[in-house]
Amino acid sequence: MARARTDDHYEQLRVQPSAAPYRPRQDAGDDPGKGNPQRRLTLVCEMSENTSRRHTEQRLKATEERFRIAQIAGGIGWFEWDLMTDTWDWTPHVALLFGFDPETPRPQLADWQPAIFLDDVPKLRSAVEQAGEKGPYYVEFRVTHPDTSVHWIAGKGEITRDDAGCALRVAGVYYDITERKALEARLLALNEGLEARVADRARQLATTAAQLRETEHRFQLLVDAVTDYAIFMLDKTGHVVSWNRGAERIKGYLAGEIIGHHFSRFYTEKDRQKGVPLVALATAARTGKYEAEGTRIRKDGSTFFASVVINAIRDASGELLGFAKITRDITERKAVEDQLRQAQKMEAVGQLTGGVAHDFNNLLTVVMGNLEHLERILPPAQATERMISAALRAASRAAILTQRLLVFSRRSPLVPEVLSVNKLVAGMSDLMRRTLGEAIFIETVLAGGLWPALADANQLENALVNLAINARDAMPDGGKLTIETANTHLDEAYARLHDEVQAGQYVGIFVTDTGIGMSAETAARAFEPFFTTKEIGQGTGLGLSQVYGFIKQSGGHVKIYSEIGEGTTVKLYLPRYRGSEDVPDEGMATRDVSRGHGELVLVVEDDPDVRDYTVEMVSELGYSVLSAPDGSTALRLLDSNREVALLFTDVGLPGGMNGRQLAEQAERRRPRLKILYTTGYARNAIVHQGRLDPGVEVIFKPFSYSDLATKIRQVLDEQTGALSKRDPGVLGGG
Ligand SMILES: Nc1ncnc2c1ncn2[C@@H]1O[C@H](COP(=O)(O)OP(=O)(O)OP(=O)(O)O)[C@@H](O)[C@H]1O
Ligand SMILES: [Mg+2]
Repeated sequence: MARARTDDHYEQLRVQPSAAPYRPRQDAGDDPGKGNPQRRLTLVCEMSENTSRRHTEQRLKATEERFRIAQIAGGIGWFEWDLMTDTWDWTPHVALLFGFDPETPRPQLADWQPAIFLDDVPKLRSAVEQAGEKGPYYVEFRVTHPDTSVHWIAGKGEITRDDAGCALRVAGVYYDITERKALEARLLALNEGLEARVADRARQLATTAAQLRETEHRFQLLVDAVTDYAIFMLDKTGHVVSWNRGAERIKGYLAGEIIGHHFSRFYTEKDRQKGVPLVALATAARTGKYEAEGTRIRKDGSTFFASVVINAIRDASGELLGFAKITRDITERKAVEDQLRQAQKMEAVGQLTGGVAHDFNNLLTVVMGNLEHLERILPPAQATERMISAALRAASRAAILTQRLLVFSRRSPLVPEVLSVNKLVAGMSDLMRRTLGEAIFIETVLAGGLWPALADANQLENALVNLAINARDAMPDGGKLTIETANTHLDEAYARLHDEVQAGQYVGIFVTDTGIGMSAETAARAFEPFFTTKEIGQGTGLGLSQVYGFIKQSGGHVKIYSEIGEGTTVKLYLPRYRGSEDVPDEGMATRDVSRGHGELVLVVEDDPDVRDYTVEMVSELGYSVLSAPDGSTALRLLDSNREVALLFTDVGLPGGMNGRQLAEQAERRRPRLKILYTTGYARNAIVHQGRLDPGVEVIFKPFSYSDLATKIRQVLDEQTGALSKRDPGVLGGG
């Protein structure tokens, strides 16, 4: 077939030597003269005479061959359509492109048409029609092969026109672009999918961004609404980058004043010098978190006690971005905690000393009683008298100490009464002057209209003397002591800071000196028993303990204000008395030693030493005495001895019946029986919160001979029921 073609070309060249474009004749295959050897021989002879012509022919042949290979290799089919003759020529590949067998007889133009997709025909037609005006045309269209497979074909061609612009012929190439089209379609689909995904992602991002903005807004609102905490952020180097309202409130800076500044300015100079702020950041950066409590400074220079947490903030890759810092003002909480700790400590110490003092008290009762007894019964002799009175003096000093301890531990029975504090203070002026000496000037500032207070007058005097002595010791070179009274209201805020204080009205007594003052550490411990800064032998450290115990037991409050080198104020607050009882006049009761007239006294005491000594004392006073170690024995004795006039019983008794229960049973049998209790201990059945029940008579251990004489006489002589006239609100109330 290829060979036949070449022959055609020879013929054409011969016939049309000037032939311009290469154009195989459509009827070449049908030329009957093609195989004529005679004609060919003539031609070769002609050519051999012209070498250059032969060369040209060879070149042409080579070109022809190359063109053919290129077409096959590129899958390109060539065609030409002579419009003048309406004849159609093409290379075999075109047939392949349209799905025809290239070996079969060539189909005519009309045969091609049905292979082309109907939808693509108009496009093809208009491309060809418009070609020439717009240069070469290019069109893509689909064809269906006989096996129904669909193929994409690209057509590229040119139209040749005559001088008048009339189309003469169309020539061009067809090639298969099915694969490219499929690729394009896939690319397009991919593109579209990609676009859809991009759009989707963009939408998601927009939603997320909106949510983030909303969250951020809410978070900002939240952070700002917190006013109890300073919440702010620092950059990596510790400069403030955000600031909430809590920070504004606690530290005093507005956001505009502090953002951009280093956070170390919140620390004290001392902490800054020690590098505390940098250590804090370094710790947070290293471990993720730094926590501390300490003193911080506000904008106005004032300090507060802060609880601080610093957290490192890192991004997903672990890179440090900065720090979140939360600061809380815990000044108040710390003060309350300190107070509470102090109160608990005092309570514990009180329990301890109270127990010891109680035992001591009983021992001293025996010691002193026996010494007094010895003094009375021994024949007068200077040496023994001296020894006995020295022993008695020592014992009473021990008794005073024990008493102070009992007062501190709030176990000393108080006898509260309605008091004019002004009158009491005024009445002490002589005593004060004598106590303080000439070098100290005393001033009393007594408030007009001062409320009455409810307290034990003797103990209050004791407390004031203790304070005066401390003041004197603090002013060795002289100075001034001021005693001031005032109606005072301790409010809720104050009560919150002082755990054991009840808000309300108090009678205030403020004792101020211009002495050496106390350090904060000393002031914090001053109330502790045995805490003294004085030299050995100079102070017992029990003075302020006594003041403290007494005031607490009275339902009051005591506080020290002191500065080194400036002086000290000790403030006592006693509860205001709200009852109707008149304030009694001050005055000392006169005591005379009264004796018995043989009346029968039943002594009930479990401690045999105390019992023996009491029995001896009572009988010495002129009474007849029976004794019992417990309640049931006492009741038996009562039943068998109708003449018992007085039951003198210890409150704490063994055997399941305490002194009060014994008294109740005894009263039931003998309603007119007189009863006198004794106790060294305030916390028991007959003494409520350290105060006496109304109508109850008590003598507190250790008691002296004369005290006992007076008391027994008084109880025996009293008309039954006389005591119950006393206002229970005063003596029994809380
Ligand atoms: N007015 C004051 N000025 C300075 N320091 C005081 C004052 N009052 C008390 N102190 C300090 O408190 C400590 C305890 O006082 P407290 O009265 O309890 O015991 P004391 O005075 O040392 O001994 P005592 O009272 O038994 O003589 C004192 O040692 C002193 O350091
Ligand atoms: Mg003292």
